[in-house]
Amino acid sequence: MEERVLSGEASMNDVSFEQSLRPQSLSQYIGQDKVKSNLSIFIEAAKMRKEALDHVLLYGPPGLGKTTLAVVIANEMGVNVRTTSGPAIERPGDLAAILTSLEPGEVLFIDEIHRLPRAIEEVLYPAMEDYCLDIVIGKGPEARSVRLDLPPFTLVGATTRAGAVSAPLRDRFGVLCRLEYYNDKQLTDIVVRTAEILDTKIDWDGAVEIARRSRGTPRIANRLLRRVRDFAQVRANGIITLPLADQALELLQVDKLGLDHIDHKLLRGIIEKFRGGPVGIDTIAASIGEESTTIEDVYEPYLLQIGFLQRTPRGRMVTQQVYEHFKLEVPHP
Ligand code: ADE
Repeated sequence: MEERVLSGEASMNDVSFEQSLRPQSLSQYIGQDKVKSNLSIFIEAAKMRKEALDHVLLYGPPGLGKTTLAVVIANEMGVNVRTTSGPAIERPGDLAAILTSLEPGEVLFIDEIHRLPRAIEEVLYPAMEDYCLDIVIGKGPEARSVRLDLPPFTLVGATTRAGAVSAPLRDRFGVLCRLEYYNDKQLTDIVVRTAEILDTKIDWDGAVEIARRSRGTPRIANRLLRRVRDFAQVRANGIITLPLADQALELLQVDKLGLDHIDHKLLRGIIEKFRGGPVGIDTIAASIGEESTTIEDVYEPYLLQIGFLQRTPRGRMVTQQVYEHFKLEVPHP
């Protein structure tokens, strides 16, 4: 797949970079106000009762801060967080090893929880409900099951696809939080905060411009900030202003709405090859050489959000706004 400066997905570089920028508490965390105010109540109540926080499922498009929020939850509870992911847990024993090594009250964060194999999910059910593990010892007629007590813990699961989490697993989370795209003001505040941590000078208009072109996604805003900072350092006096940000983003092929060459390829592909749609997701994917799931999870959610794409029972359609954005004549039906 092509390298994409606007991808909501984390690269290895982002991972270490994000860790150093990550807000540590709810008060440092910008945006997601509803989620934050609900969580702060549940956290306070759990602390008053001296119990582990109920299990939390975080869902929403990539890059909106699910991992960050898991760390913040653990910090606010005053406990450690253990991090793993659905695809990393291959056998039930892997999960059992993690669960039995938790300290009371700790947070276990499972990213991409929708990718946990079914057999492993089943280990999680009694662990989540009763803090215990059912282990089968032996084989055949000799086999017997033993129950192992676990310390109370909080499972924080994250997924980009709430619909792909099985119903029995979803039902065992007491708290469901949907993360939303950030507005321009929240993203501007995030850009200013990150610039401060990076010791980079940026004026308000420069920060607004980066925010506006970040597809409502903090991970993208922080990544664009780093790239624009490079331009500022090499081509200017190190200060990020509106004209500099605009010029740098133009060179990075990020358009005024924050769409990049892959969005363009997707939208233009639907217009040029399928007369604007409707067209099935697999057909689009094949025609532009991307995976259907990548389009669905990464590229499409923002295009749906800004009203550039519509989902219909017969497939995806571009809207009139796309023709206007590309300065194309709107076809007559
Ligand atoms: N950096 C990335 N996401 C953030 C957020 N939601 N608040 C503050 N800083 C951030």
